[in-house]
Amino acid sequence: MKKVGAILVGGALLLSAVSGWAIESCVKCHKSMDKVKELVKATGAKSADDLVKAIRGGKKAALHKAVKDEDIKKAFAEASK
Ligand code: HEC
Repeated sequence: MKKVGAILVGGALLLSAVSGWAIESCVKCHKSMDKVKELVKATGAKSADDLVKAIRGGKKAALHKAVKDEDIKKAFAEASK
């Protein structure tokens, strides 16, 4: 039974990773991923770490305090597609 549980948990994790294209923590404020893409492009960030720095040091840094680095990096990956 333990094995079945592990497989279920693994499957759920995999599914959430695949459907993670719309990043909830950004869309909450930015409404759509298209808008996020535009903003990401406008920062001129060339890497995921660049984008984290741009947002953390940007004029809206306070608004982005609650967002995870991980989500910002995901947004970069999404925007550079
Ligand atoms: C609490 C609300 C909020 C959340 C959550 C949020 N943003 Fe923002 N963000 C804003 C606002 C407001 C601006 C100002 C620009 C605008 O939307 O016109 C902004 C601006 C930006 C900018 C432009 C650069 C800058 O610093 O001004 C980028 C890039 C950005 N957001 C990316 C993201 C990403 C990626 C996420 C998810 C990981 C995210 N934001 C989550 C509110 C938010």
